[in-house]
Amino acid sequence: MYKIKDITNKVFCDNSLKFLKKIPANSIDLVITDPPYNAGKIFDKVKEKKYFDIKFHKQWLKECDRVIKPDGQIYVFWWPKFLKEMLDIFEHRQILFWTKPFARMMKLTRRWENFTELILWKTYSDEFTFNPFHDIRNIDYFNDQPPFRGRYHVAQKPIPLIEQLIMASSNPKDIILDPFLGSGTTAVASQNLDRKFIGIEISERYIEISKKRLQQKPLL
Ligand SMILES: C[S@@+](CC[C@H](N)C(=O)[O-])C[C@H]1O[C@@H](n2cnc3c(N)ncnc32)[C@H](O)[C@@H]1O
Repeated sequence: MYKIKDITNKVFCDNSLKFLKKIPANSIDLVITDPPYNAGKIFDKVKEKKYFDIKFHKQWLKECDRVIKPDGQIYVFWWPKFLKEMLDIFEHRQILFWTKPFARMMKLTRRWENFTELILWKTYSDEFTFNPFHDIRNIDYFNDQPPFRGRYHVAQKPIPLIEQLIMASSNPKDIILDPFLGSGTTAVASQNLDRKFIGIEISERYIEISKKRLQQKPLL
């Protein structure tokens, strides 16, 4: 088992199913993650299983339940297509929506594009951090988009969106875990907001990209 202080503010190239087992119980304040949907997408050279596999999601979620503190929280980006399967295993408090402007700009051919991703939110008790939002009347973070060109990852999330989740659900110095870090967005947003982070990603290439992003000033 790792000591939590030895693994904070670091990113690790590993399989989350293995790594999560070595994180101490009740040590994480907030998990924000965007798991692979196993729907045939290929990220880097790591081939994902072609078909959706709820057992995989059950396994990593079980470890998150173990490592999150009793007053902690988890946000999981999710795909509407597999909502039914997920709701069977994830006791959500609320579902948020992220609407993707560029997807909405795509030319419709024979079907509607996937404009929306879900963000499933779970708390473990009624005692949890929730910082009231600043004035968001004129800023629609849940409509934000990473750069269209020059993205680091095909599934990259916008930093301002992740920052909103972090600001709402954690305090400075809290520990934020992302077991499917991709290009490092959750770690960068955590560092921007003076939170500690732990990032796990199976692809070496994305780990290198995350490390580079974490050294940029300003962080983007
Ligand atoms: C949807 S992407 C995350 C993108 C991220 N939100 C960003 O902004 O860049 C999911 C990531 O999970 C990684 N992944 C897939 N299986 C994994 C596993 N078993 N352990 C750790 N990472 C894994 C993939 O390589 C992929 O980069």
